[in-house]
Amino acid sequence: MTQVMLSVNGKEMSAEVEGRTLLVEVLRDKLGLTGTHVGCDTSQCGACTVHVDGKSMKSCSVLAMDVAGAEVTTIEGMANPDGSLR
Ligand code: FES
Repeated sequence: MTQVMLSVNGKEMSAEVEGRTLLVEVLRDKLGLTGTHVGCDTSQCGACTVHVDGKSMKSCSVLAMDVAGAEVTTIEGMANPDGSLR
């Protein structure tokens, strides 16, 4: 297990991950950000899309360790405090 630090929706966060842990697994299972979905097992649907350092990425095909230190924005990070979207 390795500690991975990420900035997620503007907050510094860390999680213990294995080398094979996907970014989507960290977001959903370890950080509770369930707005990022897994919709397929072929990396084609895009339901898992997040922004990593400002670039769109499918979080089901990115290892968490490969984006250590990155700024990640999920759908939760796109919402205003009242829940409406920007
Ligand atoms: S879950 Fe379908 S592309 Fe990632």
